[in-house]
Amino acid sequence: MDLYIDTANLDEIKQAADMGVLDGVTTNPSLIAKEGIDYGKRLAEICKVVDGPVSAEVIATDYDGMMKEGRERAKIADNIVIKLPCTMDGLKACKSFTDEGTPTNLTLCFQPLQALMVAKAGAFLVSPFIGRLDDIAQDGMELIANIRQIYDNYGIPTKVLAASIRHPLHFVQCALAGADVATVPFSVIKQVMKHPLTDSGLEKFVADYQKAFGG
Ligand code: E4P
Repeated sequence: MDLYIDTANLDEIKQAADMGVLDGVTTNPSLIAKEGIDYGKRLAEICKVVDGPVSAEVIATDYDGMMKEGRERAKIADNIVIKLPCTMDGLKACKSFTDEGTPTNLTLCFQPLQALMVAKAGAFLVSPFIGRLDDIAQDGMELIANIRQIYDNYGIPTKVLAASIRHPLHFVQCALAGADVATVPFSVIKQVMKHPLTDSGLEKFVADYQKAFGG
């Protein structure tokens, strides 16, 4: 499973890249707003650090606006993926970008048929949101499993990018459900490498060695 980081914070991206775990980046308008920086400028900075796919979400919600904005973003670097919403206009833009050879990530996917439709329109990635479904008492993980099954039934090449991952349990369940990619916040990357038995085991190894040999 590929691992993307879900952030527009350059320092977090660099830290994940330095650990050798990073295959790509997803951003969205809320994450960019949090950084308070020009979207295009930040995308260019991210693409200098990461070779893998970097999702750049359009702000426009109409077809013409999405095409204009997406074409501008696509010029930033070869690894830019245009992120479009799972709407009718987003679907149409997905087809146009696919025809132009620009990869897309169809975001805000909340039910399996949206995933089937965007795959037909040529999406490179589809982003089902787990946490936001859990927030309204629906099973986000079931969505991942259902899309996986539909794509496998028909040999659909669109990659399932599990998004809106809030904690390590989401992350491991995505891997078990066969998501192609998980995009996770940096906080979750840090959490998964934390285990009390690793910490106490390490402490004891060092203490035993020091007791025997000093230092
Ligand atoms: C995915 O591309 C989105 O940026 C993200 O995963 C949304 O997560 P949230 O529901 O925690 O905001």
